[in-house]
Amino acid sequence: MLLLHIFKLLIFTHPICGFVFNGRFRHLVKEVTSVLLGTPTHETRWLEQKLDHFDEKENRTWNMRYFKRNDLWRPNGPVILFIGGESETSPGFLYGGMAYELAKETNGVIFASEHRYYGKSVPLKFTGVDDFKYLSAKQSLADNAHLIRTIKLNPLFSKAKVVVIGGSYAGNLAAWMRLLYPELVDAAVASSGPVLAKKDFYEYLEKVNDVYEQYGTNNCLSRINDNFKRYETLFETEHGIENLKKEENICPESDMSVPENKQLFFLSKASDFMGRVQYGRAIDIKNNCEKMNETKEKSELFDEPNFWREESKCNDYDFNRMVDNYYKNKSDWTACWTYQTCTEFGYFQSSTSNKQPFTNNIPVDFFVKLCMKTFGSEFNDTRIENGIDRVNAMYEGLHPNVTKVVFVNGDMDPWSRLGILEDVSYDAPAIIIPRASHCRDLVANYKDSEDELKEAIKHIKYLIKKWIGVGEFI
Ligand SMILES: *[C@@H]1O[C@H](CO)[C@@H](O)[C@H](O)[C@H]1NC(C)=O
Ligand SMILES: *[C@@H]1O[C@H](CO)[C@@H](O)[C@H](O)[C@H]1NC(C)=O
Ligand SMILES: *[C@@H]1O[C@H](CO)[C@@H](O)[C@H](O)[C@H]1NC(C)=O
Ligand SMILES: *[C@@H]1O[C@H](CO)[C@@H](O)[C@H](O)[C@H]1NC(C)=O
Ligand SMILES: *[C@@H]1O[C@H](CO)[C@@H](O)[C@H](O)[C@H]1NC(C)=O
Repeated sequence: MLLLHIFKLLIFTHPICGFVFNGRFRHLVKEVTSVLLGTPTHETRWLEQKLDHFDEKENRTWNMRYFKRNDLWRPNGPVILFIGGESETSPGFLYGGMAYELAKETNGVIFASEHRYYGKSVPLKFTGVDDFKYLSAKQSLADNAHLIRTIKLNPLFSKAKVVVIGGSYAGNLAAWMRLLYPELVDAAVASSGPVLAKKDFYEYLEKVNDVYEQYGTNNCLSRINDNFKRYETLFETEHGIENLKKEENICPESDMSVPENKQLFFLSKASDFMGRVQYGRAIDIKNNCEKMNETKEKSELFDEPNFWREESKCNDYDFNRMVDNYYKNKSDWTACWTYQTCTEFGYFQSSTSNKQPFTNNIPVDFFVKLCMKTFGSEFNDTRIENGIDRVNAMYEGLHPNVTKVVFVNGDMDPWSRLGILEDVSYDAPAIIIPRASHCRDLVANYKDSEDELKEAIKHIKYLIKKWIGVGEFI
């Protein structure tokens, strides 16, 4: 259940290629976990990493977890590295999906790294905000570079071609490995990577709108809009708020006249639709619209809407309590991804655009407040904007000077609005998969996937094999 709680909370700002442990999207989960039911053939390993790769004077180190699967490897096979993103890395990626298939077809050895601060790869004991300072894409890229150098110390792999694969934020990392370490990495699959950092990511909800328009049934959007406008009206009076609290089982002590609490309510309501678009299939959208017709809009995606107070029987839309109990949990690192959005990427999924049905009650400022309340008042607009500018300058936004990177996006995925949808060059093409959601291509190894998806996967593998010169291209 913990995963579900975390997911529900993080979906707001999370491009995670994670797997929702929830009936609705079980087909995604099953793909990666079912393959683990057999006897595992991977090893878990630990690699000593510098705490700070860019400060000579900092000599502290920590141990990064990674997985290795060697049984598919034959002499001259490539090294396939699945790059971990903003969650615990699942060894499932060694047994199904893109990394596995590529390794099988090219006699490769597979590795999967875990991103610093996530999963079991925690560099420091958490004592306060200052401990987050070593959390960044740049440090993580250096971790992966050190891993590759270490792998290449093994004479069996010293001359091997290296392919990196990542999805979502780790899709960015895969592309950026080619950008920053071209001498270590020969080819990359950058799947669903929102490579452009942006503060006001209003395009996300626009894309949710478009997907409902395209795949939903008649009037679905206007019904959603009616529901959200109704919430808005209820918020206008004390009496309305009382009714809303009853209707939505909101805790008596949640003061819904506080702007941030109201915004949290709207974000939480919208996240139901966001999740369905980000991880669902076209048919899920249609079904959702049909259900809505029968039962009014009702949350069905998440069975536990109250995620920061597990013991509670009511829905606690209390911004301050959420931050204090959850984000600022002194014994845990739950705020890691939030820290990266506040210092590097923004990605704030606001309702600023009027081309979406959720009304305008989720301002960018909500997310800025989250940064400041969680990490301190210095994490303000200025700092957030500077971080975003730095990231876009360093990684070159939508026009990175890279070759041998394939940028893959699902046509249903809201994150694709910050991704590369046009070929950067002949050697850095973009692939858009019709009717596919976030990271679909990395996990789809089952037989009944859509034809467009199968075609795309075939094409991605063709490109990678061509770039590393295996198979018919030798
Ligand atoms: C690490 O650096 C500190 C000073 O910054 C020094 O006292 C210590 O001996 C160093 N440790 C190692 C293992 O080099
Ligand atoms: C559902 O939609 C159909 C067609 O749009 C309409 O005829 C019907 O009355 C709707 N049912 C409900 C319960 O709103
Ligand atoms: C805080 O973190 C600890 C350790 O991970 C966890 O057991 C606890 O449930 C967390 N508290 C909240 C409110 O999430
Ligand atoms: C953010 O804080 C810094 C000091 O930490 C200050 O110089 C800057 O003006 C602040 N920016 C805004 C928008 O408040
Ligand atoms: C792109 O990179 C290549 C080699 O890595 C370099 O020669 C070229 O000048 C770069 N182009 C731009 C526009 O920076």
